[in-house]
Amino acid sequence: MKLKSKDFMLRYAKKSDLKSYYKNKRNDKQIDNGFHGYKYPYSLTAAKKDLNRAILSVKQKDNIYFIIEVNSEAVGEISFEKIIPKLSAKIGYWIGKEYRGKGITTKAVKLAMRYIINKYNLRRIYGNVRTNNKGSTRVLGKCGFKVEGIQRRSGLKNGKYYDEYLYGRVR
Ligand SMILES: CC(C)(COP(=O)(O)OP(=O)(O)OC[C@H]1O[C@@H](n2cnc3c(N)ncnc32)[C@H](O)[C@@H]1OP(=O)(O)O)[C@@H](O)C(=O)NCCC(=O)NCCS
Repeated sequence: MKLKSKDFMLRYAKKSDLKSYYKNKRNDKQIDNGFHGYKYPYSLTAAKKDLNRAILSVKQKDNIYFIIEVNSEAVGEISFEKIIPKLSAKIGYWIGKEYRGKGITTKAVKLAMRYIINKYNLRRIYGNVRTNNKGSTRVLGKCGFKVEGIQRRSGLKNGKYYDEYLYGRVR
C-alpha cells in the first residue's frame, strides 16, 4: 500500500525505518506534549517498540499506522486506532521537527483519511488534542474536524493534569 503525494509518501512501516524513525522522533518536547505514551527523553528501545507496533498493525483489524516518508526517510506517522468498521476510528499523528510548518501533516492527514474512510466505510473520525496544542488543532480544523467539547482533566502526564479537545469529523 502506497499513497503518493508531491512532497511525501504514505506507506506501512518496516524494520529498516528504525534509524530515521528514531532520529525524527527522539527527544522532542512537542511530541512529549502531544502524546500520553511518549516518554521524554525518548530512547531507542522505545522507538523500536513503537515502530514494531506500527509494523504489526498491518496484520490487525482495529489499528493502522502509516509512515510519512520524505526522501526515503520515515519522518512522521499517522495512526488510526480503535477502528470499528462502518463506524469510527481515532486519529493520531506526529512529524519530525525539520518537517513541520510545511503543510505536510495537513496533506497527509487528508490523504490517509480518504483511504481509511473508503476502506472501512467509516462515518466518524475523532481525536483528542491537548488544548495548548495549537499546531494540532490547526491541522484538524483544516481537515474538516469540529470541536465537539472539552474533556476536562482527561490527561495526566508527569504528575500534571490537562484538558483536551475532542475533535470529530463525520459524514
Ligand atoms: C502538530 C503537528 C503534527 C503539525 O504538523 P505540521 O506538519 O507542522 O502541520 P502543517 O504544516 O500541516 O500546519 C498546519 C497549520 O498549523 C499551523 N501550525 C503548525 N504548527 C503550529 C504551532 N506550533 N503553532 C501554531 N500554528 C501551527 C501551520 O501554520 C498551519 O497553518 P496555516 O495553514 O494557517 O499556515 C506537529 O507540530 C507535531 O508533530 N507535533 C508534535 C506531535 C503532536 O502534537 N501530535 C498531535 C497529537 S494530538
